[in-house]
Amino acid sequence: KSQWEALQKAERRLKIHIIFHFSIFYPPRRRGISLPANTAEELKEKIIVHEPVTLTKFLEKFKEYMHVIAGDREAIKRIAYEFVEDKAKEGVIYVEVRYSPHFLANCDVGKNIPWNQTEGDLTPDEVVRLVNEGLSEGERAFKIKARSILCCMRHMPNWSIEVVELCKTYRDAGVVAIDLAGDESMNLEENSNHKVAYEEAVRCGIHRTVHAGEVGPASMVKEAVEELKAERIGHGYNTLQDKDLYRKLLEQNMHFEMCPISSKLTSACSSDFTQHPIITFRKDKANYSLNTDDPLIFNSNLPLDYSIVHQHMGFTEEEFKRLNINSAKSSFLPEKEKEELLHQLYEAYGMMRSTAL
Ligand SMILES: *[C@@H]1O[C@H](CO)[C@@H](O)[C@H](O)[C@H]1NC(C)=O
Ligand SMILES: *[C@@H]1O[C@H](CO)[C@@H](O)[C@H](O)[C@H]1NC(C)=O
Ligand SMILES: *[C@@H]1O[C@H](CO)[C@@H](O)[C@H](O)[C@H]1NC(C)=O
Repeated sequence: KSQWEALQKAERRLKIHIIFHFSIFYPPRRRGISLPANTAEELKEKIIVHEPVTLTKFLEKFKEYMHVIAGDREAIKRIAYEFVEDKAKEGVIYVEVRYSPHFLANCDVGKNIPWNQTEGDLTPDEVVRLVNEGLSEGERAFKIKARSILCCMRHMPNWSIEVVELCKTYRDAGVVAIDLAGDESMNLEENSNHKVAYEEAVRCGIHRTVHAGEVGPASMVKEAVEELKAERIGHGYNTLQDKDLYRKLLEQNMHFEMCPISSKLTSACSSDFTQHPIITFRKDKANYSLNTDDPLIFNSNLPLDYSIVHQHMGFTEEEFKRLNINSAKSSFLPEKEKEELLHQLYEAYGMMRSTAL
C-alpha cells in the first residue's frame, strides 16, 4: 500500500511537469503496460504519419498506443478534457467529436477484447459517461461547446445495437448522433445489425452520419443515404464518381464532412491538393464543412486543414464564412442552440441576419 501511495505521489508530480503529453505518457507507468518508446517524443515519432500510407499501415498506428488508453478511466476522461482545451486554443467555438466507446472498453465487448487487453471492468456505457464528464468539464474550463457522436464499427456489427442504445441513454448528456466508421469494403448485407441500429436511431430521433465514399465507391454513399438515412456524409469524396447521385445530393442539400489532410494521408484522395474533390464541391456550392480527422496520427489540427485549402485550393475568407455557416446549420444541436451558434457566427463575421443567406 505504501508503495502504491509513493507511486501516486510521484505520479502527481509528473503530472504537473508533463501536462501536455501526459495522456500518452503516464498510463503505462501506472499500469505496468509496455510501450514501443521511452518518452512522449519518441512515441509521437512512432505514431505520426507524414506521407500517404496504406490502410493497413494506418491501422497499425492505433496499436502503438490504444492498449494503454483503453480500459483506463483516468486517461479517458483526461483526454476528453484536454481535447476541449486543444480545440479552444485552435479557435473552435463548437465541436462534435466522435469515437467508438467499445474501442476504449475492456468488458462487455464480446470475445475479442480490443487492443489485446485482458478483461477488466470498464464497460462501453461507463466509457461514454467518462467522456461526457471530461467534455463538460472542458466546456466549463475553456468556454466552448463540445458534443459527441458515438461510432459503430463496420467490422463489429455486434456492437451497433448497444451504440444506438447509448446514444438514446446519453442524448441529454452531450451525445448528439450515431456514426458508422471503419472498413468500407464491408457492406450492409452481411452486417444487418448496422441497419437495425440506424432504424432505431430514426425511430427515436437520434441524428445520423456515416463514413462513406472516403476510400469506398459512390455506392457506399448511396447506401448511407438511402438505407441508413444518413443526414450527413463523412468524407464522401467518391460521390463525384456517380454524377446522378452527386446531382441528387446537391439538390437535397446533403452535408459532407470533408477532411483535407486526412484525405491525403490515408490515400483516399490524390496527394496533389490542386486536384482535390473539395474543389468541385466548392465550385458547385455544395453543403460541406472542413474538419480534422485522426489529429494525433496525422499531427494535424483545424487551422492546418484550413491553411491547406487556403494555400492550395484558393479558398477565400468568404468561402470560409459560407462553409462555417453551413456547418453550424448542419450541426446536430437542437434548433434553439443552433440558432445561438449561428448568431455567434453572424456577429463575429459582422453579418446582418437578413443578408446572412
Ligand atoms: C497479446 O497478449 C498476449 C498475452 O498477454 C501476448 O502473448 C501476445 O503476444 C499479444 N499479442 C499481440 C498481437 O500483441
Ligand atoms: C455476434 O452475436 C451473435 C448472436 O448474439 C453471436 O452468435 C456471434 O458469435 C457474435 N459474433 C461475434 C463476432 O462476437
Ligand atoms: C446545409 O444544410 C443545412 C441543414 O440542413 C441547411 O440549413 C443549409 O441551408 C444547407 N446549406 C446549403 C448550401 O445547402
